Amino acid sequence: MADERSVNRPPAPTADTPPHEGDRIVSPDNQGAEKSVDYALRPQSLAEMLGQERLRDKMQILVDAARHRNDTLDHVLLYGPPGLGKTTLSHILAHEMKASLKVTAGPAIEKAGDLAAILTNLRRGDILFIDEIHRLGRAVEEILYPAMEDFALDLVVGSGPGARNIRLSLPKFTVVGATTRLALLTSPLRARFGVVERFDFYETDALQEIVKRAARMLELQVDEEGALEIARCSRGTPRIALRLLRRVRDFAQVRAAGHVDLAVAREALALLDIDWLGLDDLDRRVLGAIVYKFNGGPVGLDTLAASISEESDTIMDVVEPYLLQMGFLDRTPRGRVATRTAYAHLGAPYPDRPDQPGLF
Ligand SMILES: Nc1ncnc2c1ncn2[C@@H]1O[C@H](COP(=O)(O)OP(=O)(O)OP(=O)(O)O)[C@@H](O)[C@H]1O
Ligand SMILES: [Mg+2]
Repeated sequence: MADERSVNRPPAPTADTPPHEGDRIVSPDNQGAEKSVDYALRPQSLAEMLGQERLRDKMQILVDAARHRNDTLDHVLLYGPPGLGKTTLSHILAHEMKASLKVTAGPAIEKAGDLAAILTNLRRGDILFIDEIHRLGRAVEEILYPAMEDFALDLVVGSGPGARNIRLSLPKFTVVGATTRLALLTSPLRARFGVVERFDFYETDALQEIVKRAARMLELQVDEEGALEIARCSRGTPRIALRLLRRVRDFAQVRAAGHVDLAVAREALALLDIDWLGLDDLDRRVLGAIVYKFNGGPVGLDTLAASISEESDTIMDVVEPYLLQMGFLDRTPRGRVATRTAYAHLGAPYPDRPDQPGLF
């Protein structure tokens, strides 16, 4: 088991931390008590990781090669929408390398000195996981460049005319960075990573296996069709699959003697206002606003967000990636546009748009 220590991070929530009020049921963001359950369900090794075969194979080769050379891992940058397994993979990498994992996050490292303190405490082979790495400040990043490239820490000692630069050498370590926003990463930082990998949304059958595995661990009876229904409604995201499974479990325990089949899963999901494609109220509000308020678009992100009183970031990180993947939304230089499929899903008549030929 990898030794995990948190650096500059609040302690992990415990089972009695109350769930976040008003939490969106299919929100891939993870809050409160459910986080501790997620920790327990987290796969520990690459072999246990379901789905993401392409990424998993690459990581296996990376790990095997490093082990074979008795070397440390190259720096790895993981990006993709929330809830797909970036943090999980960082734990797996530490476990596979039998390395100690130190966890921190971009916003937690406020000053260059904070990072210097973290770096000087590393030992050879340690993995430093930096979540939300796109949120590192400029001065902090500048400490990170030589640390990643030359395993060196450049410090300025003293001030004024007597100030001197000294260079401390650091043990060879690995940075695993995670971000939902690759585009916000500065190019010098991005260039320091030898491996840059994207997480894709999961296929339904992989999610079905994830649901079945979690059900076994939660000692809940879920049949194939029940697991498939939950998987189908999970927006390609394991975190959502696990969250839906827990809600379906509550329903099944109260209404169906604890057994989840297709009918029970459907009934439970319908109560959660999740439609047959896994879209929830927020997804439908976004699509509905584009279609009904903005005549199908194009509409700018901020205008769209304001029109439904949501944060632009939430729409961009949480709602859009899946709607784009489903072909409900297009991003054009002039803004977001609802596609013909989106109209069909909402049951709205598709307008004739002679003013915008070739838009769809
Ligand atoms: N391949 C997988 N197999 C099984 N479970 C998985 C897999 N990937 C992720 N999970 C589960 O999904 C949950 C969410 O994963 P994780 O926290 O790693 O996502 P993330 O990409 O770091 O999200 P964020 O961007 O919000 O930090 C985890 O608790 C884990 O249990
Ligand atoms: Mg994470």
